[in-house]
Amino acid sequence: MNTNRLSKTITAALNAQMTKEAHASQIYLSYGAWASSQGFGGIANFLFRHANEERNHMMKILEYILKRGAEVEVTSIPAPPENPVNLLSCFEKIFLHEVDNTKGIYKVAKISHEEEDWATWNFMQWFVKEQIEEETLIMNLLDKMKIAGGEKMSSNELYSFDRDLESASDEVRPAQDVTTMKP
Ligand code: FEO
Repeated sequence: MNTNRLSKTITAALNAQMTKEAHASQIYLSYGAWASSQGFGGIANFLFRHANEERNHMMKILEYILKRGAEVEVTSIPAPPENPVNLLSCFEKIFLHEVDNTKGIYKVAKISHEEEDWATWNFMQWFVKEQIEEETLIMNLLDKMKIAGGEKMSSNELYSFDRDLESASDEVRPAQDVTTMKP
């Protein structure tokens, strides 16, 4: 008896997204190592924490595929891109990776909608919300860097930015949770 609840197309799309999350984890890991080598221990810590978060995203998808009775395909992960040239470019590159990851999430959500696979569609909504938060988190950091001078940030500003990221929250309050009393 076949108990597989996922179509071939959905299984392939989920497996591809699982690899994409693993790739994202490697990117954060690699940029974290770069930041540490530049003396930015706080930023490295932030990026290493995010490498773990991406790994968790990968595991969620792996677990979902298994729980729906389909086959997980663990494949090789593409190498991370070249190191950034400076901190601003580091976070700009991260933002672009997140936007690309969002496209991957939307793709799986779109296929599940077309196939009327509401279980997968529902599962993907967690990722849709997570991507809003991740994009917002990096956008906020980019804003702060731009205010501080972007590529021309002074040593003092770089020092403060690095120190702040060591203990910065990894979460952003989504717009859905905003009220007039708590904007
Ligand atoms: Fe799993 Fe940063 O997206």
